[in-house]
Amino acid sequence: MESTVREKPLGEEILKNLYQGWQKIKAGLSLAHKNLSSQLRQQLFPDNLPLKQVSEEAWQILQQRVEQVIEEDWRDAMEGIYPVSLLFDADWGEFFQAYIGIWLDYPRTWQRIRLGNFQDLPSSINLDKYPAYYRRNFHYQSDGYLSEYSANLYDLQVDILFNGIADGMRRRVLKPLKQALQSQSRPRILDVACGTGRTLKFLRYAFPEAQLYGIDLSAFYLRKANEMLLRLFPQQLPQLVEGNAEHLPYRDNYFHGVTTVFLFHELPSPVRQRVINECYRVLQPGGVLVIADSIQLSDSPQLEAVMYNFSTLFHEPFYNDYIKDDFQNRLLEAGFDNIQEKVYGLSKYWIATKRG
Ligand SMILES: C[S@@+](CC[C@H](N)C(=O)[O-])C[C@H]1O[C@@H](n2cnc3c(N)ncnc32)[C@H](O)[C@@H]1O
Repeated sequence: MESTVREKPLGEEILKNLYQGWQKIKAGLSLAHKNLSSQLRQQLFPDNLPLKQVSEEAWQILQQRVEQVIEEDWRDAMEGIYPVSLLFDADWGEFFQAYIGIWLDYPRTWQRIRLGNFQDLPSSINLDKYPAYYRRNFHYQSDGYLSEYSANLYDLQVDILFNGIADGMRRRVLKPLKQALQSQSRPRILDVACGTGRTLKFLRYAFPEAQLYGIDLSAFYLRKANEMLLRLFPQQLPQLVEGNAEHLPYRDNYFHGVTTVFLFHELPSPVRQRVINECYRVLQPGGVLVIADSIQLSDSPQLEAVMYNFSTLFHEPFYNDYIKDDFQNRLLEAGFDNIQEKVYGLSKYWIATKRG
């Protein structure tokens, strides 16, 4: 008995060190990749983008923020919110394919950046069915969100952008949801703009009994999500729907929880309110909405140059408005109550309850 008590913390300590080491490697490789690709871009496809100098203080804050996410991620796993194995989750085959794909794709992306061309979408797609704000190459990425090719590169691109903590930031939606839904034995949870399904995957681990739903405008990203989720959870596949978050195809008061990750900064201001109103409508009284999106100027003024550079280099036309947006106000306007805000890494979280 005594030895178990002594061994457990040691095992935990080793595992934690392994996790921190693994994340440090990811962060180092992401930074090295970004440095190299940025130098090559400047050599081969020079541009005059007016990027801002990032101060030494901002770099230090960024590093602290990365460490903070890693710490939280570890703590939540230890609390049993999700399995520790998730922290070491990696699909190496997929990683190498996507990594090679990213390099092969760069010339096309860099050319788009240089020309400021953000309307380079597949000609085979009928664009009329998408809202105008969506018909563009966000991040200057090839095909926007509208191809299998784009879906296959997206996850790794985002993880490199966030120095290896993209999933850690996504997982921060789980704890507040778990706390809010603890009395529900089989909650219904919707992930709005689920993309390639990463948050749904984490939701499945955190809520094995839940009925999960995902919606996104991209049929290609949904297909990618479907493949991955089917492989991992053949018996418990979330219900995935192609649709617009402005008009959620679900009845009123249906869900116990709604999440949305990295969506709002890509929406024009009036659309943000419409989506929040829709989340409110489909939630049950007492249900909880958890939003994860970019940090804003009000919580991270020292990172202003980082935010500015992101919107300039990555074609994010609604971002500069987003970082000044008052989400407390928007949530109150929709009817939400009990609104909390948190910041982890480069993400901000709003947790809000529908009045019971
Ligand atoms: C930056 S990605 C985030 C995807 C995913 N949540 C993640 O964590 O990676 C934005 C996603 O929002 C989707 N999207 C954008 N506007 C939408 C809308 N009006 N309705 C539904 N999905 C939308 C895009 O197709 C894309 O998958």
